[in-house]
Amino acid sequence: MHFDIWTTGLATLAVDCVVLGVFEKGELNEEARTVDAASGGRLTVLMGRGDFSGKSGETLLLTDLPGVKASRVLLTGLGAKKNFSRKTYRRALSAAISAVARTRITSVAIALARPGAKELDDYYLGRAAVEITASALYQVNDLKSGKKPKTSALATVLTGPVRKAGATAARRGLVHGTAVANAMRVQRDLANLPANVCTPTYLAERARAMAKGVASLKVLVLDDAALRREKMGCFLAVAQGSDEPAKFIVIEHRHSKSAPTVALVGKGITFDTGGISLKDPGAMDEMKFDMSGAAAVMGLLGLAAELRLPLNIVGLLAASENMPNGRAIKPGDIVTSAAGLTVEILNTDAEGRLVLCDALHYARRFNPAAVIDIATLTGACVIALGAHHTGVMANDDALAREIVAAGVRADDRAWQLPVTEEYGEQLKSNFADFANIGGREAGAITAAAYLAKFTQGMKWAHLDIAGTAYLGGAHKGSTGRPTALLADFLIHRAGR
Ligand code: BES
Ligand code: MN
Ligand code: ZN
Repeated sequence: MHFDIWTTGLATLAVDCVVLGVFEKGELNEEARTVDAASGGRLTVLMGRGDFSGKSGETLLLTDLPGVKASRVLLTGLGAKKNFSRKTYRRALSAAISAVARTRITSVAIALARPGAKELDDYYLGRAAVEITASALYQVNDLKSGKKPKTSALATVLTGPVRKAGATAARRGLVHGTAVANAMRVQRDLANLPANVCTPTYLAERARAMAKGVASLKVLVLDDAALRREKMGCFLAVAQGSDEPAKFIVIEHRHSKSAPTVALVGKGITFDTGGISLKDPGAMDEMKFDMSGAAAVMGLLGLAAELRLPLNIVGLLAASENMPNGRAIKPGDIVTSAAGLTVEILNTDAEGRLVLCDALHYARRFNPAAVIDIATLTGACVIALGAHHTGVMANDDALAREIVAAGVRADDRAWQLPVTEEYGEQLKSNFADFANIGGREAGAITAAAYLAKFTQGMKWAHLDIAGTAYLGGAHKGSTGRPTALLADFLIHRAGR
């Protein structure tokens, strides 16, 4: 796919299709008015007949408008003008690309109105064009034996209008957008794979394959023996219930000695049965997505290398199954974490925090300026925030705010929840330093409070993506979140 910008002369661009935005009540934006004028008012006539409402998500394909070089013009609804925002812009563009994908159009020029330069500047205009096109065209790597659905013919996307002064920023947006789209595809492809294919060993192989021939990337995989040497008792406790070997995967993007380090820690439970505290069978298949955090980290390390980000980034993927075999941990078992703290495992289904606490401890050796873990950690977070916001919990408010702001810019939103002292008290145990669960109340936060015990002295944030990383039901599949958020965070930290 080729992406570029266009600057002027919409009606004379040599593309198959021009994509125009129309507001509700038939109001044409500036670009649409240019085309309307060139075609002798054909759009005004069409709107006058009431054939296109301009509602968000609606599209209409027109052919051979006089005075327009492109053989097709696609109208896409921008919704009510007063509600026009970056979000409705994205929705209109996404609907347009999906409509284009069903045709034989090979090249388009995007000419939607912009919701003001503050809402969508030239850089984010470029990013949106690539990111939205990529997600609209994304196809699940399914294992259906029938004929594959046709891939779209679309090969060239021009976005604009961009004035001369904004061309550099917009083109940078296209480059960054391409890296974000690639990272999201890595995450989605991995997360969508079934757990019998996507095992910890498979993740380790994919990490090695990604780093092969890439100068800035180094991969280290710790197996069972190495995990014992690292005294990762909590991680090993989860792993011992499965016949599938666990892997702790370290992917480093090295820029320079002097650059700050950001550590990204991903929960990589390739299947979560709950262990002896077995889950209900309903929708248990969705627990193949329990490695979405690790998959996101994998994609982001690819992005770091692709964009040569001037940061050191270390990705730690804690990969294991959570299974109930004869050696599995039992409720009441007490294990010792790598940090030396003892943990009473009251519920074997609270396994994410067990693998993460040892991974977070491992992150210390990199002396990170920030450490962020990404995990499908709690059903409670889904109850609290639904599928709309990722939960952010941190021991550093500035870091939490930085993450929330990145989510706004990237349209991959997150919401901060408090992790104050009181929540940690819910983890009291009669037999160990603390328990791995804190009761029904504030379940998303008590999980974070558990992790907080292992991150003292580091600037740490935790992203609970249980509600946002994938969809269930008819649209079951990975969403690629929160890759865009974290990409924005890293790009900003890199000062670009
Ligand atoms: N992987 C689950 C969390 C989850 C639940 C993700 C629903 C996506 C959708 C996690 O390992 C888990 O089982 N958490 C338990 C914790 C509880 C036992 C304290 C939960 O949320 O029920
Ligand atoms: Mn679980
Ligand atoms: Zn889990």
